[in-house]
Amino acid sequence: MHKRTLIQAAACAALLAAGGAAFAQQAPFKIGLILPMTGQQATTGRQIEAAARLWIAQNGDTVAGRKVELVLKDDASVPDQTRRLAQELVVNDKVDVLAGMGITPSAMAVAPIATQSRTPLVVMAAATSSITEASPWIVRTSFTLPQVSVALADWAPKNNIKSVVTLVSDYGPGIDAERFFSERFLFNGGKVADKLRVPLRSPDFAPFLQKVRDLKPDALFVFVPSGAGAAVMKQFGERGMDKAGIRLIATGDVTDDDQLADMGDVALGVVTSHHYSAAHPSAANKKFVEAFQKANKNLRPNFMAVGGYDGMRVIYESLKKTGGKGGGQALLDGMKGQIFESPRGPVFIDAQTRDIVQNVYLRKVERKDGQLYNVEFDVLKDVKDPGKTK
Ligand code: PHB
Repeated sequence: MHKRTLIQAAACAALLAAGGAAFAQQAPFKIGLILPMTGQQATTGRQIEAAARLWIAQNGDTVAGRKVELVLKDDASVPDQTRRLAQELVVNDKVDVLAGMGITPSAMAVAPIATQSRTPLVVMAAATSSITEASPWIVRTSFTLPQVSVALADWAPKNNIKSVVTLVSDYGPGIDAERFFSERFLFNGGKVADKLRVPLRSPDFAPFLQKVRDLKPDALFVFVPSGAGAAVMKQFGERGMDKAGIRLIATGDVTDDDQLADMGDVALGVVTSHHYSAAHPSAANKKFVEAFQKANKNLRPNFMAVGGYDGMRVIYESLKKTGGKGGGQALLDGMKGQIFESPRGPVFIDAQTRDIVQNVYLRKVERKDGQLYNVEFDVLKDVKDPGKTK
């Protein structure tokens, strides 16, 4: 009897050892991260890559016994490239998750690949409302333009802004910002004197700003994608718009933390609404900003970095829930409904829409410790994307 137990125990141990070895030899868990590392949107790629690497440095490269590998590809924000790279990542590299997506057309190009291959796609940057409806495999950790635009349209009429001109980049997120800002502003009794759209690629703001000067609204409302804000701000100052009594209000993409420190005095006092400021006064954010700057030669993290950092958390947590096993459906299920404290504040991945629910802050550019920051002065809590059709 005793001997039999011993033999059984030995057999059991051998089996366990074999199982352990098999587990150790299991293929790494691959995250196919597609970002614009070059071209017009390169700052977005740089911010998100840095944030993803920071997440891994802080949380390790093994989750529930499974080694995690980041496979980074540069799409230069050309959607045909994003599509080709996503296909290669799925077919050749056999990635477990796709992630990144610097601009809306990139996310839209990859959506059918996520659906066909049943691969979760974590959108860390692109922010047109309809993206999450393009595939049931998409989960978003960035934001949406309707989500952040509406708060500003409520604030403006209460602060002596009765007429505006809107100026947006002529594609998905710009059209969302224009529509949701204008509709709410009109509803609140404001007047929209004109709606101007500038091309996404190499925009020249000068002729548009001249038109705004002639129309003389109380304020100009702007959306341009991360990376283009400094150019708008510079030309706004050079054309003496502020001196002509026209205020600039915008989504936080314009007073982007990546560029804000170098924008100069013209940015002082600009009011924006957004989901993240590097100056967000929470312990979690202070820790994040410090660690990010330390690891990246003092680069200030922007809202793109936070989308990437939180995207990594969502992937890690769902892999943990599967005990390191993964699998498209199990991973997707594990991503839905996550609640956690982000550097931006409390967030929630809505299981129904797979989109992020978060606080939206009103902020004003001020000088703090000698540098320009978006200083938060009001908050709308737990804002869902108002752009969802269902
Ligand atoms: C987008 O293309 O969806 C996009 C890019 C940059 C932003 C916001 C939205 O700052």
